[in-house]
Amino acid sequence: MAGNWKMYKTPAETRAFFEAFRPLVQAASPCEIVICPPFPDLPAAVESARGTRVLVGAQNLYWAKEGAFTGEVSGPMIHATGATHVIIGHSERRQYFGETDETVLKKTVAALDASLTPIVCVGERLEHRESGQTEAVLCEQCQKGIAGLEAQQFAKIVIAYEPVWAIGTGKTATPEMAAEAHRMIRAEMRRHFGEKAAGEVRILYGGSVKPDNVKSLMAQPEIDGVLVGGASLDAVSFARIVSFPS
Ligand code: PGA
Repeated sequence: MAGNWKMYKTPAETRAFFEAFRPLVQAASPCEIVICPPFPDLPAAVESARGTRVLVGAQNLYWAKEGAFTGEVSGPMIHATGATHVIIGHSERRQYFGETDETVLKKTVAALDASLTPIVCVGERLEHRESGQTEAVLCEQCQKGIAGLEAQQFAKIVIAYEPVWAIGTGKTATPEMAAEAHRMIRAEMRRHFGEKAAGEVRILYGGSVKPDNVKSLMAQPEIDGVLVGGASLDAVSFARIVSFPS
């Protein structure tokens, strides 16, 4: 269960979130919880999450370890903060910052080299879905962005299916639509990495996940977890999501 804070919250607001969130998740289901705040909040998040089941991730990285790349942050730098995960290829990065399947692959390899767990995002836009191209788009993103990994690298990644039309719009894919897309992604992974590895990779659903719809999404056997944007900013709402079975 991953929270993507996008460009929200300062370090002080991060600490306040954890103050409220910590007591709420103690009794939560034994799922893995990852919160991905903006870069400047990583130290505050790691410190606040210490001693809890909550892990911390970044939202992006650059593939070089260091160098003259003004404004960029590397995998080893993220790892040094105590963060364990990193989101890669989020649709907002693809849409506004020129991220491509090729850069997604490079960043995924860099994350693994830095001992970070990459959460690699794929997803179709509304025009793709409306013109019946969903499967073709997802397969292409998987082929170019993920299939280039070695088998032992693939075993360490998490995939997030995030239909672009459902992000921040309040339009959730129905559980059946999400499950169908997860099956497409898993089938494509099977072609590249075989039955066992494709069966084991975790695929999260993301796009307007809320406390009220998490249960029906998680009831789909194809959906292994969720990547939550807006509803992860509020401690009570994200706690309700991570403790969805109760
Ligand atoms: P949302 O964002 O939950 O606000 O739709 C999801 C995401 O972009 O990861």
